[in-house]
Amino acid sequence: MTSYIGGRMKIGFFRGLFVVALLIYGVGAGLTGNMNMATSGASAQTAGSVPGNWSGNVSDAEIWRQVRRGVEGTVSIPDKKAGTLVQSEGDNWRAFKNGWLSNFGGWLLLISIVVIAAFFLVRGRISIDAGPDMMGRTIERFNALERFTHWLTASSFIMLALTGLNLLYGRYILKPVIGADAFAALTQFGKFTHNYIAFAFMLGIFMMFVLWVRHNIPNMNDIRWLSVGGGLLSKGVHPPADRFNAGQKIIFWLIILGGTTSSLSGLALIFPFEITPWAATFTFMNAFGFDLPTQLTALQETQVSALWHGFTALVLISVVIGHIYIGSLGMEGAIAAVGTGHVDLNWAREHHGLWVAELEQTGGIEEPGQPAE
Ligand code: HEM
Repeated sequence: MTSYIGGRMKIGFFRGLFVVALLIYGVGAGLTGNMNMATSGASAQTAGSVPGNWSGNVSDAEIWRQVRRGVEGTVSIPDKKAGTLVQSEGDNWRAFKNGWLSNFGGWLLLISIVVIAAFFLVRGRISIDAGPDMMGRTIERFNALERFTHWLTASSFIMLALTGLNLLYGRYILKPVIGADAFAALTQFGKFTHNYIAFAFMLGIFMMFVLWVRHNIPNMNDIRWLSVGGGLLSKGVHPPADRFNAGQKIIFWLIILGGTTSSLSGLALIFPFEITPWAATFTFMNAFGFDLPTQLTALQETQVSALWHGFTALVLISVVIGHIYIGSLGMEGAIAAVGTGHVDLNWAREHHGLWVAELEQTGGIEEPGQPAE
């Protein structure tokens, strides 16, 4: 009995051993892909080559280093930008926009407001020295089309400025106050508003240019006006000026030229990768001694547009803050020019003496309640 049981156990043990050996062989043959379980030589990476040589003799690390540096590959789809996997300049661009540009704009706006407040404290409101005309006589300063043009440009500019400033500073100033969801909704609405109102502003500066350019050509009177600071700093000083004085001419050209270049860079942002003005602009500038890159990818073009758009807009906003002050609170009688269109005769004599003298020849002075002939 005992020998029978011992015999059965031996047989079971050898059967088990056989099954285990079979399994080991199966796994080995499967892994090596060879019935004899023969393996090839060691396939570890050596000296920068990649096992299987699928990427030539270049290691993964080197490929990803190039990708990180922004190397442009080739793609067969129409969107050639897809050939650049990582555009590293984007990091620098974002840092510049959120750092230097935002700081510059913040300081510029702050300084503008401080300078205006200081000017108001020192000089006060510039009044009509001779007082308003005793007989209530006026002069038509701007006709209906000119006033419409002014307010078209002004209202669109103010909307653009507010929605634009929100894009640059809103997340720091508004978001903590109104919350993330309300800020997101407001910013999205603001962005669409910005894109559409831009066209009204462009029309406005075009009309302004056509209507007022002939009155804004610099001449010798401007030098005389500037040499005494336009009389703005001292009471009773009124250098003779044409329809627009030198200060207004400077504002006019800043708005026309700044507004045009800001609008063009804005268009390049509304139609990214389609309007790409910078390579040609830089080539042109290099003729004047600059050393700017003339080979720009579509993405780099858009990045330069965004920076230039922000920079010019911030400068314009600070100029316009000064203009709004002097056209309203800062000077008695000025707002009527863009309100009713008719200004007090004494106001006009003090601020635009040469223009009034010209009108006196042509009968442009209006008696009270009576428009000029
Ligand atoms: C509430 C805002 C504004 C007020 C109260 C205002 C006021 C005035 C006034 C009173 C004048 C006439 C000055 C004169 O008769 O000699 C004027 C002219 C003018 N405005 Fe405005 N303005 C405003 C906004 C703007 C904006 C936003 C722009 C353009 C972006 C602008 C562009 C001009 C230009 C180009 C002139 C003619 C040149 C000059 O007088 O400086 N204005 N504005």
